[in-house]
Amino acid sequence: MLNGKIGLAPMADYTDFAYREICREYGAEFTFTEMISIEALVRNKSFNMFPKEREKNIGIQLFGSNVDSFIKAGLIAQHYGDWIDINAGCPVKKVIKKGAGSALLKDLNKLGEIIRELKRFLDVPVGVKVRLGFEDDIAEKIIETIQKNKADYVIVHTRTQKQLYSGKANWKRIRELKRICEIPLGASGDIYTYNDAKILMNKYEADFAIIARGSIGNPWIFSNKNPDIDEIKKTILKHVKLMIDDYGEERTIRRFKKIFIGYTKGLKNAREIRNQIPYINSYDDLEKIVNELN
Ligand SMILES: Cc1cc2nc3c(=O)[nH]c(=O)nc-3n(C[C@H](O)[C@H](O)[C@H](O)COP(=O)(O)O)c2cc1C
Repeated sequence: MLNGKIGLAPMADYTDFAYREICREYGAEFTFTEMISIEALVRNKSFNMFPKEREKNIGIQLFGSNVDSFIKAGLIAQHYGDWIDINAGCPVKKVIKKGAGSALLKDLNKLGEIIRELKRFLDVPVGVKVRLGFEDDIAEKIIETIQKNKADYVIVHTRTQKQLYSGKANWKRIRELKRICEIPLGASGDIYTYNDAKILMNKYEADFAIIARGSIGNPWIFSNKNPDIDEIKKTILKHVKLMIDDYGEERTIRRFKKIFIGYTKGLKNAREIRNQIPYINSYDDLEKIVNELN
C-alpha cells in the first residue's frame, strides 16, 4: 500500500483538500487528512474534513482517547478514505491533556486496545503514527504493542513528545527499529528535500516516508523539481482558488497567509513581499502581490 512511496504527512490547519490536491499534482504518492476528532465525528461534526470522493490513496487520521468513540468514529470514517490512521504522536498540550495524541504513548495498553478494536470492527487497513516516546525513547516497546495488535503499518516521527520540534529527528532510530518491525515502517521528521526521503528509505531502511513542514509552499519537493517563478505564481493562485471553493474568500485568506510565506521562501524579494502579507484582505490583494514575486 505505502511501501517505497513518498507521501504528504498529516498537518492540522494545512493538509485540507486544496493542499493535498496541489501536492498530488506534484507527485505526492499518498496523502493524509488533517487530524479529525473522534468526539466531533461521534457528534456528527467535522464531516467536512473528510476527503472528497475523487481523492485516491488517502488516509483519514483520527485523534482522541476513548475506545468506544474510536470505534464509532472509525465506522463512519472508513467509508470516506482508503485507510484509518491513529494519531499517537501529537505533542500539543490541548490534545494530550485529554489523553489523546502522544499521551497514548504513556498508556500502551490503551493504544493496543484502540488498534485491536479498530482492526476488529473496520474493513479498511488501520495504521498508527507515533513518536519515539513521551518522555523517554521507548520506541521498541511501542512497536511491539503496535504489531502485536496487528496494525497494518506504523509511522515514527523520530523525536519524543518532550522534544516537541527541538533538536534533530533521529533518523538512525528508523534503521534500528526496522530490525524488530515486521509491518511497514514509515519515517517522519526533518525531511526537507526529495533526496532526504530517498536517504531515509535507502540508507536508513524506512519502507516509506512522509513529508510535513518541508512541503509548506514547496509541493515540488515530491517530484524533486525546481519550479520557475511563473510556475510558482500559477501554483499559488491555483492553491488559493481551490481553498476559496471550500471556505469562501475571507476564511481562505486568513488560512492561506501562513502557507503563502512558505511559497515565498528563497525568492529574491521574499522579505518585501512578507511585509505586505498582513495587509492582504482579498483574492485581488493577493493576486497583486503574487504578480510582484520575483
Ligand atoms: C503545523 C503542523 C501540524 C501538524 N499536524 C499533525 C496532525 O494533525 N497529525 C499528525 O499526526 N501529525 C501532525 N504534525 C506532525 C507532522 O505530521 C510530522 O510528523 C512532523 O512535523 C515531523 O515532520 P517534518 O519534519 O517533515 O515536519 C503536524 C506538524 C505541523 C508542523
